[in-house]
Amino acid sequence: MNPIFEKVKKSYDYIRTVTDFTPEVALVLGSGLGEFAKHMEVECEIPYSDIEGFPVSTVAGHDGRFLFGTVEGVKTVIMKGRVHYYEGYPVTDVVLPTRLMIMLGAKKLILTNAAGAVNKEYKPGDLMLITDHISTIVPSPLIGRNIEEFGTRFPDMSHVYSQRLLDVARNSAKEVGITLREGVYMQFSGPAYETPAEVKLARILGADAVGMSTAIEAIAANHMGAEICGISCFTNMAAGILDKPLDHKEVSEAANKVANIFEGLVKNIIKNM
Ligand code: 6GU
Repeated sequence: MNPIFEKVKKSYDYIRTVTDFTPEVALVLGSGLGEFAKHMEVECEIPYSDIEGFPVSTVAGHDGRFLFGTVEGVKTVIMKGRVHYYEGYPVTDVVLPTRLMIMLGAKKLILTNAAGAVNKEYKPGDLMLITDHISTIVPSPLIGRNIEEFGTRFPDMSHVYSQRLLDVARNSAKEVGITLREGVYMQFSGPAYETPAEVKLARILGADAVGMSTAIEAIAANHMGAEICGISCFTNMAAGILDKPLDHKEVSEAANKVANIFEGLVKNIIKNM
């Protein structure tokens, strides 16, 4: 068996010794957005550290657990805390939790993150619906022998962020009275924030947001045929727009500040999905 598939399958088998929960929706909570979990009626919790060989976050304040339960009555699995490529795990490990949630049954996936605004019209505290991404700076999680159980060797990437879910998200935002920006998310490796020149490069390439996650997870989930919805929460302007140093603690705190509107939107998206 392919060692990468084997690893996901082993994690799957472990989860199945704990719960037979079959989620409809999977939700990945980005940095500072973990509080959303309070909106779930939790049936079962599994810390990543209980799963042998599972990547565990090394970043202070990044929780690491799966929550299984219902949100707005919809069977959901929440990934509270993710691992990032900059932590040193191979990309295939970084996307393992995402693949696992899809394997457990979730065919709809919501990816969220804290991001820096590249588009000068956008402001900290804004939420942005991800319409597309640029992921060419980080290696593809599909490199290596193709895992046929997951998907095809050369997946189409024309609509990674499902057109149906884009509309669901737009309508959900309208219903709760939230202004939802839209744009392209570009993933950098981190852990350093970008230089002003790199932010300029991102803007010239057509990016509206920069971050250190999400795109590779979307690639892996798209490979498996999941329907994907992505939401960025701007915690700051990217470097070079304001002459203000970026600080991880401030980024997390800024995410906490928009938590309320973020939570209202995501709850409504799950309800409408
Ligand atoms: Cl400015 N850059 C990256 N890569 N990630 C971020 C960010 C910036 N702000 C929040 N997360």
